[in-house]
Amino acid sequence: MNEPAKTALIDTVLDTSTDAAARPAARTVFIKTFGCQMNVYDSQRMADALAPLGYAQAQAPDDADLVLLNTCHIREKAAEKVYSEIGRLRRLRDRRRAGGAAMVIGVAGCVAQAEGAEIMSRAPAVDMVFGPQSYHRLPDLLARVADGERVVETEFPVEDKFDALPNAMPAALATRGPTAFLTVQEGCDKFCTFCVVPYTRGAEFSRPVAAILAEARRLVEAGVREITLLGQNVNAYHGEGPDGREWGLGRLLHALADVDRLDRLRYTTSHPRDMDDVLIAAHRDIPQLMPYLHLPVQSGSDAMLKAMNRRHTRELYFGIVEEIRAARPDIALSSDFIVGFPGESETDFADTVDLVARVGFAQAFSFKYSARPGTPAADIDDQVPEEARRERLTALQALLRTQQADFAASLVGKRLDVLFERDGRKPGQLVGRSPYLQPVVVEAPRALIGEIAPVTVTSAGPNSLFASLCQLADAHGRTRVAVPA
Ligand code: SAH
Ligand code: SF4
Ligand code: F3S
Repeated sequence: MNEPAKTALIDTVLDTSTDAAARPAARTVFIKTFGCQMNVYDSQRMADALAPLGYAQAQAPDDADLVLLNTCHIREKAAEKVYSEIGRLRRLRDRRRAGGAAMVIGVAGCVAQAEGAEIMSRAPAVDMVFGPQSYHRLPDLLARVADGERVVETEFPVEDKFDALPNAMPAALATRGPTAFLTVQEGCDKFCTFCVVPYTRGAEFSRPVAAILAEARRLVEAGVREITLLGQNVNAYHGEGPDGREWGLGRLLHALADVDRLDRLRYTTSHPRDMDDVLIAAHRDIPQLMPYLHLPVQSGSDAMLKAMNRRHTRELYFGIVEEIRAARPDIALSSDFIVGFPGESETDFADTVDLVARVGFAQAFSFKYSARPGTPAADIDDQVPEEARRERLTALQALLRTQQADFAASLVGKRLDVLFERDGRKPGQLVGRSPYLQPVVVEAPRALIGEIAPVTVTSAGPNSLFASLCQLADAHGRTRVAVPA
C-alpha cells in the first residue's frame, strides 16, 4: 500500500511517465452511515483506509466507483432499511453499467456482521460483506472483488484493527470540522436480553491509552477542539496505561485534559453500573469535561430491568444521578428508553414515567421494543401488543419533550460558551453547540468557526437555542464582539 506522502510524490514525479499503473487511479467512494456514532467514526476510518488507494469521497452514490453501506442492526426497521437501500443501489449500478462504468457495492457494519452470507443470497448485487472488525482489511477485500470473488468477511480477527488502520491524512481531518469522535472501546459483555450489540460487535475491547492520546493529538493539530470518546459501553473502558496498569475512563479523561488546545471532552454511551467514583469525580474536577451525560436507563420498573438483564435497579440509578449532580450541579442528563418490553404491564410503564418525572431529562431517545432474532427477549412469549407499545411511546415522548423544552427555556437569558461548527441555514448565521450539546444558532462572523465564544441565549426552539454574541469590554472599557485575534 502506498503511504499518503509517497502517493503525492509519485503523482508529480511520474506525471509525464507512461507507467500509469504506478499511479493510484482517481476513484471515488460513497459511504452511507446508519446507526450510532461508532458507525460514524468507523465510516471515517474506512475512508482513511481507502485514501491511500486513490479513493476520494463522492458526495452522492450516483457517480461513485465504490459504495459502502455501514449498517445498523439494533431494531428491525434499521436492518430492513439496508435491503431497500441495496435495491436502489442496484438500479444505480445498472444505469452506470449501461454507460460503461462499474460500481462495487459493499455492506459493512452490524447487519453485515449479523447476517453475513444471508445478505449475499438475498441481495445478489452485493459484492462484499464485511463486519466491523475487518475494516483494516478493505484494500485486500477490494483486490479479491476485482479478481471476481464475492467476499464475506465476518470472523472476529484477533489482531487489533485500530493498530492496522492507517491514520487520517491531515487534509481529510481538516474537512471534518472542529468536533470529532474517537472510539476508545468496542464491544459489550453486558448481554442485555433485548440487544444485538454483544453479538455484532463482540466482546469488550479497550484501546491502549498511548494510542488514544496519539490520535487525540493528531486531531487537535488538525484543528479539532472537542472530542467525544466513543464505546458501546464506554465507561467500562479499561485500557493499558503507559505505566503498564489498567486505566479506567476517569483516568483517561484526566490525561486527555492535559492535551493542549483540546478544550472540550465528552463520552458516550455509558452503562449505569460502570459509573465509578473516579469517573464521577472527573465531572467535578475536569473543566473541559462538558456538563452532559447520556446514561441510558431503559426502564423505571425493577421487574423489567431484571428481565432486561440490566444489572441495576431504579434505586441504583437514582443514587448515581444524585452523586453526579453533587459533583456537577449543572449537569444535563440524557437517556434511552424502551417501552413495551415483553411482559411490561401498565404498572411497569407507570414506573418508567415516574422515574422520568423524578430525574428530569434534558434530552432522551425512546423506542418501541423490537424483537431481535437471536436475543433472549425475542423468545419470551408475553410480547406486548403493538397498539399498547405505540400508546406508551406517545405518552413517554410527550413527557420527555416537555422536559427538554423546559430545560431549553431555563437557559434563556443565560450566558453560555458555544463552539461554532458550521454555517447556519440563513446567510450570516453560524451553528455551534452549547456545553449541554444543544445546537445554538447565532449571527456571527465565519472567522468564529472552530472557536469557542460566549453568547447570550435569546430564545429556545424545539430542537435548537437561538443566541447573540456577547459584547466583551476590552482593556479600555470599549465594547467589542468576541472575534478571535
Ligand atoms: N450501549 C448502550 C446502548 C446501545 S443501543 C447502552 O447500554 O445503553 C442504543 C439504544 O437502542 C439502547 O439504549 C436501547 O434503548 C435501544 N435498543 C437496543 N435494542 C433495542 C431493541 N431490541 N428494541 C428497541 N430498542 C432497542
Ligand atoms: Fe446492548 Fe448497551 Fe446492554 Fe451492551 S449494555 S447489551 S450495548 S444495551
Ligand atoms: Fe447499530 Fe451496531 Fe451501533 S447495531 S447502534 S450500529 S453498534
